[in-house]
Amino acid sequence: MVCLGNICRSPMAEGILREKLRAANIEAEVDSCGFEAFHVGDSPDHRAIEVARANGVDISRLKARLFKASDFDEFDHIFVMDKTNYNDVASVARTEKDLEKVDFIMNRAYPGSNMAVPDPYYGGTSGFRKTWEMLDQATNRIVEDIRKGKL
Ligand code: 4NP
Repeated sequence: MVCLGNICRSPMAEGILREKLRAANIEAEVDSCGFEAFHVGDSPDHRAIEVARANGVDISRLKARLFKASDFDEFDHIFVMDKTNYNDVASVARTEKDLEKVDFIMNRAYPGSNMAVPDPYYGGTSGFRKTWEMLDQATNRIVEDIRKGKL
């Protein structure tokens, strides 16, 4: 899961997907990272932690880190939140195979839309709730697609 700061959208995405995979008894590694160094080592934004907690998911112990090229080797799928994240990840891709792993997370729920999960950082808590709703939709489909062997 990739966003810009790795303190709002992608840690929420990491937490919600990990919880759904656990509940579905699916073993998979989930991680998140960003491209902006400013928050490296920080916990998720308190509003992200609160909204996740209100939905039964604890993301308080996650720590922000930067994307690295070896993530292309470590992970089968790389989900981005918006076009900026896509371009950031694509700029580090070494091969066509790396690039094939990258997709907009909302494409799972709305194929081909390249829909963005908007950055909630500068808004209020309602933006974080909206982020959670979008990620809930997308991660439901991720789990469903894994079950059906489509991911
Ligand atoms: P995120 O939101 O990409 O969803 O984690 C952001 C949080 C902080 C910054 C940018 C985006 N920042 O530049 O500080």
